[in-house]
Amino acid sequence: MTEYVKVASIDEIRPGQRKIIDFEDVTVALLNVEGDYYCIEDVCTHDGGPVAEGELDGFVIECPRHGALFDIRDGRVLSMPAVVPMPTYEVRIEDKDIFVASPDAW
Ligand code: FES
Repeated sequence: MTEYVKVASIDEIRPGQRKIIDFEDVTVALLNVEGDYYCIEDVCTHDGGPVAEGELDGFVIECPRHGALFDIRDGRVLSMPAVVPMPTYEVRIEDKDIFVASPDAW
């Protein structure tokens, strides 16, 4: 069964903002796009770059290292040099709290 972990409150991450969260085995980023929250792994599938630090344009994030583009909604690759989708994690909102499906539980 999937475990969910509280990672933030909705007041902490306003539209356009993001938060990096370190789990035991993986680092993820929670991003707010116009009031909706998305969670991606903060490791580029091309060469391990800190993809969550990249520029975000709508739902598209650009890895700052070599410019690969990913859709943060489902992790799919939109541009080379990456060819493997990035992991994404389900986000749930309960009251004012934000939970993500725990990467460490998988
Ligand atoms: S490490 Fe991200 S594009 Fe190369």
